[in-house]
Amino acid sequence: MALIEAENLTKSFGNVLAVDGLSLHVEGGEIYALVGPDGAGKTTTMRLLCGAMEPDQGRVRLAGYDLAREPDRARNELGYLPQRFSLYGELTVLENLRFFAEVRGLPRDQWLPRSKEILEFVGLAEFVDRRAEALSGGMKQKLGLAAALVHHPRVLLLDEPTGGVDPVTRQGFWQLVIRLLRQGVAVVISTPYMDEASRCTRVGFMNAGRLLMEGTPTEIASRLAGRVLAVTGSPWRVLEQIARQDPEVEDVRAFGDRLHLRLRPGSGRRVARRLRRAARRAGADLEGVRAVDPGLADVFLAALEGVPDG
Ligand SMILES: Nc1ncnc2c1ncn2[C@@H]1O[C@H](COP(=O)(O)OP(=O)(O)OP(=O)(O)O)[C@@H](O)[C@H]1O
Ligand SMILES: [Mg+2]
Repeated sequence: MALIEAENLTKSFGNVLAVDGLSLHVEGGEIYALVGPDGAGKTTTMRLLCGAMEPDQGRVRLAGYDLAREPDRARNELGYLPQRFSLYGELTVLENLRFFAEVRGLPRDQWLPRSKEILEFVGLAEFVDRRAEALSGGMKQKLGLAAALVHHPRVLLLDEPTGGVDPVTRQGFWQLVIRLLRQGVAVVISTPYMDEASRCTRVGFMNAGRLLMEGTPTEIASRLAGRVLAVTGSPWRVLEQIARQDPEVEDVRAFGDRLHLRLRPGSGRRVARRLRRAARRAGADLEGVRAVDPGLADVFLAALEGVPDG
């Protein structure tokens, strides 16, 4: 049984269709990444999944409990870390957790051992007496995670949990998530980072309220197999212009120190040959032209432009 089952979720705000017929199934031990541009509907999806908002249509089941019919049971299985979560700055780390434990209805004799256990888990055990307002950004994020986990949920929703967090802290946060997955928790995470999405078991790419595509990172990347060329050399602008003029190059983007070209299916060798010839004629130095494995970003940008698979 999937721990998260959402069918045909739909939500409008006035004439904005924020979530449009979205269905989602996530099993225990799975982590599902919702990726998409600003305003795609990721946060609204999370709010519908956690019951903070009612859908216009559709339904949600968490660990088998229907969120509309058995909201208390369903929410008891759920931890939610909102995109902008709030802690009580003047309360200590431990007092904050006590508050969240009480909201979650943890019995008095359980909140303290459970809080200590969860603070140990997220690496905040030595900061129990520090006021929340004095924590670093990454520590606040960990306290937010601890608050979401204080009642042992089997379903965890994380809305951009690593936004604005440094790479080292992000890495630590992921180690925690991986441990939760091993315990059988089902996780949905929204993230703007493609490297994070590619660490997930499945990825759904959202735009304008709809899931444009869904699959394992490997499945998604294979949609553009053989259709991405990396080009290095100089002058950069000349090479870029040459690439744009090629009839079988669909898109040109800078990726660090190289250009990524998206090609029409099956055109790799022809394009490489033409680029070399054109560069020679223009007096440009084409150091390298090679096929590269497409990344999630390549596929998503193509999907946004409505490019069919090839
Ligand atoms: N409470 C609300 N009232 C009116 N419109 C809303 C509300 N919440 C969201 N929207 C609109 O719904 C759409 C989806 O917003 P949502 O916050 O779900 O996007 P998102 O994918 O989370 O974006 P971001 O990456 O910026 O967090 C946007 O057009 C937004 O303006
Ligand atoms: Mg959002």
